[in-house]
Amino acid sequence: MPDFPILDGKRILLVIAGGIAAYKSLELIRRLREQGCGVRCVLSEGGARFVTPLTVAALSEDKVYHDLWSLTDESEMGHIRLSREADLVVVAPATADLLAKMATGLADDLASTTLLATDKPVLVAPAMNSLMWAHPATQTNIAVLAGRGVRRIGPNAGSLACGETGTGRMAEPAEILAAIAAVLDPLARGEGPEPLRGRRVLVTSGPTIEPIDPVRYITNRSSGRQGHAIARGLARLGAHTILVTGPTAEPDPPGTHVIRIETADQMLAACQASLPVDVAVCAAAVADWRVRNVAGQKLKKDQGEMPILELVENPDILATLSKAGPHRPGLVVGFAAETQRVLEHAQAKLARKACDWIVANNVGPGTGTFGGERNTVHLLRATAEGGLASVEDWPLLSKVSVGERLATAIADHVAGTPRAVS
Ligand code: CTP
Repeated sequence: MPDFPILDGKRILLVIAGGIAAYKSLELIRRLREQGCGVRCVLSEGGARFVTPLTVAALSEDKVYHDLWSLTDESEMGHIRLSREADLVVVAPATADLLAKMATGLADDLASTTLLATDKPVLVAPAMNSLMWAHPATQTNIAVLAGRGVRRIGPNAGSLACGETGTGRMAEPAEILAAIAAVLDPLARGEGPEPLRGRRVLVTSGPTIEPIDPVRYITNRSSGRQGHAIARGLARLGAHTILVTGPTAEPDPPGTHVIRIETADQMLAACQASLPVDVAVCAAAVADWRVRNVAGQKLKKDQGEMPILELVENPDILATLSKAGPHRPGLVVGFAAETQRVLEHAQAKLARKACDWIVANNVGPGTGTFGGERNTVHLLRATAEGGLASVEDWPLLSKVSVGERLATAIADHVAGTPRAVS
């Protein structure tokens, strides 16, 4: 099941230029194919030095194009057609050299010629040494391309293949995939109806981590995937989306304002500082307890006694946001992560936490929910008195689809209600 339903059946022309990051493009091809995308690749001469045409052809399950002067290639699929048959042209890695050619309109090989001849949207994922990236020539080229509507993802900061550290790492395949989905999604481009435009929403996501000493901590298995997908779904419908998240490997959902925290106390403070909001969705797996006396120095084994960790309960963010008051969001949605008697526990949580909706899911061993790609959820709605109004059973969906469906349900609910901030 695709993570990004929008990608199913789309055609991507992937230009792989000559950079060490070309190996990551192989992973990108694999992921695009998993989403149901057709991928056709153009390898620049430099690109073919880093990855072989055979590997690219095997992964893309298509012919690979690399020679502008190939009679067979030109008769089978001229470079003009190559550039027009895709829904999107992606350049990954985009080297300083290819970006310069694109900015100045040079066309001396198949990659640059194809890019000059295309009338389709173009997304570049630059990758280069940090000094090359920072050079005014590259920055001017990037600005020229941005002015022409070329989209860009990355580069990221981090350690570079040349041994230096700085900005120049190509974005990760997962980030490029999300950027491709965003470019192809008319709603994410702000071209569709945006039922949540003008609404402020808050989403919590990921685990929290609670320190024991400077090097150890308590946490849980939450990946943040579901919470991030909800934030993405809400932003896609035009909401001003604030995502308060514990540490996760998930890329920032496009169009959201991300606040990174570690502990439950920090998550609560960030949520309260974000009020007022129209809607709050608490999808984070907040650690229920924290250590009372966090050690200032690393606990040592040779200090005789085994350390005894005294735990104190963390604040309940969902219950705090649900409390009646001038800043209570119009709609508060919680999650119920259960391993047994899912609906029964979820209903009890709905009443106990005084929220309006609960999304209940089974996170038991064997379900693959925690850390997985998919989720089977039930949406419980409360009556004004805190009783159970309704239960909807949703089918097995990708977490992205759960996020989109929940965002649509939220948009339907808030339609016509007064705004938290006008
Ligand atoms: N939650 C929260 N703050 C906490 C604990 C939980 O905001 N300190 C929120 C979660 O984000 C979720 C909901 O409360 O929306 C339920 O979380 P869950 O872990 O299922 O339940 P708990 O409240 O921890 O209760 P229990 O451990 O008894 O299942």
